[in-house]
Amino acid sequence: MSTTDKLPPLYTALPGSNATLRAGAWRRMLRRRSYELRVIGVACLIYIAYVQWRIISIPSSTLSPEITVHGLSTKRLEEDLATCAKLHTKPADPIGFGRKRNARYIDGQKPTLIVNATVWVGEPVNGAAAAATGEEYVWIKADVFLEHGLIQRVDGSIDLADLPSDVLVYNAAGRPLTSGIIDMHSHVGVHALPTIHSNDDTSELSANITPFVRSIDGIQPTDHQIQVIKSGGVTTSLVLPGSSNNIGGEAYVIKHAVGRADGRNETSIVDMLADPDRAWRYMKMACGENAKHVHGKIGERGPMSRLGESWEFRQTFEHATKLMRQQDDWCAAASLGLGNIKTHLPVELKWEALIAVLRGQVHVHTHCYTIKDLEAFVDHSNEFQFPIRAFHHAHQAYLVPEVLKRTWGDDPPAAALFADNMWYKAEAHIGSEYAGKYLNDHGLVPIYVSDNPVLNAQHLIFEAAKAYRYGLPYHVAIASVTSAPAERLGLGRRLGKVKPGFDADIVVWDDDPLRVGTNPVQVWVDGTAQYEDPVELNKPFRGTLIPNQRLADIAETAVPVSVDMVFTGISKILAPSLYAGPDDSETFSVAVSRGKITCVGRCDKEVAAVGESVVHIQNGHLTPAFTAFGSTLGLNEIDSEAVTDNGADGTAFSRGVDGLALNTTKLLVARRYGVTRAISAPKFTVGGTHHGTSVGFLTAATTALDKGAVFNRDVALHYTLDLSVKGVGNTPSMSSAVGELRDKLLQAVESRNNSPLVTLRYSEPAFLQKVVAGKMALAITVHSADTISSLLDVKTSVDEAISIFGGDVKIRLVIIGGAEAHLVARNLAEAGVGVVLAPMQSYAVSWDQRRALPGAPLTNTTAVDVLVDSGVVTAVGLEEDWIVRDLGLLAGVAYQNSEGRLDERGAVDLISRNVYTMLGLEEPGWDDHFVIYEGSPFEIDSKIRVVGDGTGQVHIS
Ligand SMILES: *[C@@H]1O[C@H](CO)[C@@H](O)[C@H](O)[C@H]1NC(C)=O
Ligand SMILES: *[C@@H]1O[C@H](CO)[C@@H](O)[C@H](O)[C@H]1NC(C)=O
Ligand SMILES: *[C@@H]1O[C@H](CO)[C@@H](O)[C@H](O)[C@H]1NC(C)=O
Ligand SMILES: *[C@@H]1O[C@H](CO)[C@@H](O)[C@H](O)[C@H]1NC(C)=O
Repeated sequence: MSTTDKLPPLYTALPGSNATLRAGAWRRMLRRRSYELRVIGVACLIYIAYVQWRIISIPSSTLSPEITVHGLSTKRLEEDLATCAKLHTKPADPIGFGRKRNARYIDGQKPTLIVNATVWVGEPVNGAAAAATGEEYVWIKADVFLEHGLIQRVDGSIDLADLPSDVLVYNAAGRPLTSGIIDMHSHVGVHALPTIHSNDDTSELSANITPFVRSIDGIQPTDHQIQVIKSGGVTTSLVLPGSSNNIGGEAYVIKHAVGRADGRNETSIVDMLADPDRAWRYMKMACGENAKHVHGKIGERGPMSRLGESWEFRQTFEHATKLMRQQDDWCAAASLGLGNIKTHLPVELKWEALIAVLRGQVHVHTHCYTIKDLEAFVDHSNEFQFPIRAFHHAHQAYLVPEVLKRTWGDDPPAAALFADNMWYKAEAHIGSEYAGKYLNDHGLVPIYVSDNPVLNAQHLIFEAAKAYRYGLPYHVAIASVTSAPAERLGLGRRLGKVKPGFDADIVVWDDDPLRVGTNPVQVWVDGTAQYEDPVELNKPFRGTLIPNQRLADIAETAVPVSVDMVFTGISKILAPSLYAGPDDSETFSVAVSRGKITCVGRCDKEVAAVGESVVHIQNGHLTPAFTAFGSTLGLNEIDSEAVTDNGADGTAFSRGVDGLALNTTKLLVARRYGVTRAISAPKFTVGGTHHGTSVGFLTAATTALDKGAVFNRDVALHYTLDLSVKGVGNTPSMSSAVGELRDKLLQAVESRNNSPLVTLRYSEPAFLQKVVAGKMALAITVHSADTISSLLDVKTSVDEAISIFGGDVKIRLVIIGGAEAHLVARNLAEAGVGVVLAPMQSYAVSWDQRRALPGAPLTNTTAVDVLVDSGVVTAVGLEEDWIVRDLGLLAGVAYQNSEGRLDERGAVDLISRNVYTMLGLEEPGWDDHFVIYEGSPFEIDSKIRVVGDGTGQVHIS
């Protein structure tokens, strides 16, 4: 994944291992340790001899009462005995109801009454009876009273006269109210954003097994992302160490309220702990490709394979088990009297946390993707008898639900998942967007997580929304980011529901939280509103969703059809060029012959001709098919596996068409989700960067030689000017990279009349000549508004040079990335420069994206709004290939939150027509590249039913 490829250490992706660098440090550490051990050993011997001498040489009558006959401090032995009691305490989930006040409550915060809300309690309204069907889970009209950091009342109507006189009143105006969203897998704070090398405290890479380190020691309370995440309604996160280590260390549950501005007493990490009493502890473990790649060194240390990883786990658990038994034996003996006790309680800080795991005091969260990883870890849990709270990144869990149920104990682990992020490494290659539904069908709990900054946790609710789209029942989807993670964290009596006695973490949303593009309008943490003046978008609340049962009928594959067909029931046509008739008020039919639309309208003749081959679509929407511009589709199958990848060009120059590899999983999925054309360039360094010329091709083609498979051999000439350019080739600095590009273009202007030698027709200088002749677009991957400014200056110089030489064209510039493009939107519009936003909603992962706009309730616009307002031709791209499933929905987010800037056609243009406009290409035909949705493409509960893929077939699902 681009966010992590560039930036070790990685969480889901494989860290760019610099194991060789660390080998020296490791050896030094081993040497140091053996030296230390020797010193400690000698000291111990001297001490033991001294104690023996004291016991022999001093008559017992002269011993002080503080010292036993064995020379041990009585006081300390008593402390040890008290520690025994603690060691054998089994934590329980802390209570919610029955508290007078939340231990996190800060005196002086006023009580609050939220009136007129539509409340999702998080439980069946009439008890558990009909809970299984989900029918008893409903939205209710209620007022909610918060006091002392707790939800005190949830009632149909609460009389103000019954409440304290200083109560604050918030009118929800009928909008949806849920408990705060919980992210059970985050690296917020330990990997602060924007990424700066020195602020990354995610993984302790000095050793593979580090149960003794704690994420709390690396959490940066000033991490801006803590605030961005909260603006998405996420009030609680489990901050885990990274997954580079088999045992990564302890994790902590925090709430997203920091310092006085958020109603806290002070800026402190401890102040953020969700449970100040720390009833439960948490530990991160990880199996699979990361540890062996990061830590293994041939002949020196493991693990080099999953075999070695299991041994790392087993020998570690064995060691901890031995220590635990020594403690238990000591405690048993000491409980009979301290007189005969010859040693103190054996404790070792280094193994304390792991022993606590074996004692059942620590919730284990383990990152395991594949069947072999899951099964091995289930085996460890049984061999050493500890439960597992959740398997994270459990991509293949849906294939083996029964294996998960074999986990030790009677409480099978939950599966912490992404809705549809996959393919970034071999472990993530096999996965299903329907995993959540399958797991739920088998009685296992799916939980959606962000792995922030892998995904932007701000949009965690969108993961749950997509899970619903992919077949998970509506109430289970909401639970997957509220009550389910709360329960797994052992905080299920306090978090995740809107009930008296729960912590008052509340979100009021501008629409149903599972709709596309829903934003919070206010967020409360422990009863304190987090925004004084939140931005509320001007959009109507359309009512809560009625769960669409049809989403549960999933079709994993689409059926290809080449016979003539008619699709009836089309109520909207979002492809202007396909239909020139009257407006969209009646329903239409769409007739298709050999994959091409032959009629849109009544189509009586076609209906009569096709006989049985009529398919009725409910509330059908016809759109052009989508184009993915700027991904690695067609050049890659598994992002981090070199053998499946075209590779990275660096300073070498190449053409995408020469690396095209078709009929991959990614492309089959692209086609199924309506992305029938792609324009891809070779990578510069990692995914999301570009160098060379891009190729335009059909995602449904089997080989590049199929008729029409490649519709444009060289679409645009690509360079990258993001942070990755520094230090590659001859460009140590950003300024040198900009300068090099300027020189190349000016040289092309100078040599414009020398037509290239036949042998150099496909060389970089030849394509540069096309650029300065206005015959080909120059596409630059860049985020920083500063670098974009420099680039506009380059364009000015080059355009000037062209005119000095008598030319009358200007170069056509396109920007890919554009996280900060909104800051120079007007200049871009003036210069006729188009922008492909990738990602569409940047969250300042890298320094050059740090001025990204997070959107409501923090800002009144996002990049797409500003660009559209300024008249910049804008498209939505995908900085990682898995986003191909979501292109339609991302256009939907832009549409739903555009406050009328975009109409539906304008939103479809973002992922179709605008790509061609900005590149200066003729708009392609849509009659054989189209999608028919059941429902609106911009609504969460629509389904793709028909895709015309441009190869003479349609695919029906
Ligand atoms: C808040 O801080 C003050 C000192 O600034 C302290 O006296 C008080 O106990 C603190 N309250 C809580 C709940 O931490
Ligand atoms: C509740 O909100 C609805 C929708 O905005 C409004 O019509 C109604 O008057 C409100 N009721 C109260 C008691 O504020
Ligand atoms: C394309 O790939 C799919 C899935 O791997 C496979 O079933 C199909 O046979 C392939 N098509 C061709 C023509 O090889
Ligand atoms: C958004 O807010 C900024 C400053 O807060 C203001 O200048 C601008 O006019 C607002 N834009 C819109 C579209 O409301």
